[in-house]
Amino acid sequence: MSWSENDSAEFVELGPNFVPDRDVQMQILCDLIPSLEGAHVVELCCGEGLLSAHLLTRFPDMTVHGYDGSPLMLRRAQSRNANRFKAVLFDLAASDWRTFSFPVHAIVSSLAIHHLDGEQKRELFRDMSQCLSPGGMLAVADIAQPATAQGTILAARQWDDSVLNRDAFEQAQWNLFRYPDPETDRPSTLFDQLRWLYEAGLRDIDVYYMKAGHAIFGGVKPL
Ligand SMILES: C[S@@+](CC[C@H](N)C(=O)[O-])C[C@H]1O[C@@H](n2cnc3c(N)ncnc32)[C@H](O)[C@@H]1O
Repeated sequence: MSWSENDSAEFVELGPNFVPDRDVQMQILCDLIPSLEGAHVVELCCGEGLLSAHLLTRFPDMTVHGYDGSPLMLRRAQSRNANRFKAVLFDLAASDWRTFSFPVHAIVSSLAIHHLDGEQKRELFRDMSQCLSPGGMLAVADIAQPATAQGTILAARQWDDSVLNRDAFEQAQWNLFRYPDPETDRPSTLFDQLRWLYEAGLRDIDVYYMKAGHAIFGGVKPL
C-alpha cells in the first residue's frame, strides 16, 4: 500500500480541519446503519477510530471490527474504543481478509476506498456484497472524481471554501483536485461507483451527501 505512517500522522493532525462537515458525515453514516440487536459492523480503513466511536456510542450492543493497514492508526483506534472494538491489520487491496467468521450486518468506510484504482473498487464492492448478510448495508463516504474538467474546478473551489484553516490546507497541498497524486489517490466518478454497487448485486442504491467532491453513498443487500 502506498499510504505510509507519515501519512497517518499527518492525517491525524490535519484531517479534522480539512474534511468538509466531518461530524455531519459521521452522523449520516451512523443514520444509514440498520438498527439490529448485537449487530456486527466492519469498518474498512478505520483510521484512528472516529467513525467506530460514533457507531459504538449510537448502538450500545454493536461490535465494530476496525480494519486498517496502519499500526499507528489501529493503536489509536483501539485505545479510543473499548472492548466492543476489534482491531485488524490488513491491506485493503488484498483478498486474503474477505471472509468473516461472524454475520456482517453493515460495512462502512470513510475516506479510504479512493486509494484503490477503479478495477480494485469494483472487485471490493463485489466481494463486500457477497459478505453482507441479507438486508445489510454497504455505506461509503469518500472523495469522488467529478466527471468533467468544469466539475473538477467547482469541487476544488468548494473544498477550499469548506475547510476550517484555508492557509494550512493550501500549504499542505491537500486539495487533490488541485494537486493530484495518482500514486496515492485514485478517486473514481460517483456514477461509476454507483454502477459497480449495482453490478455487485446491491439495491436501494442512493447518495446521501455530496459537497466539494466528497460523497456518501451506498446500497443494501436484498433480503
Ligand atoms: C484518510 S485516512 C481515513 C481514516 C478514517 N477512515 C477516517 O475517516 O478518519 C485513510 C486510512 O486508510 C488506511 N489505508 C490506506 N490505504 C490502505 C490500504 N491499502 N490498506 C489498508 N489501509 C489503508 C490508512 O492507514 C488510513 O488509516
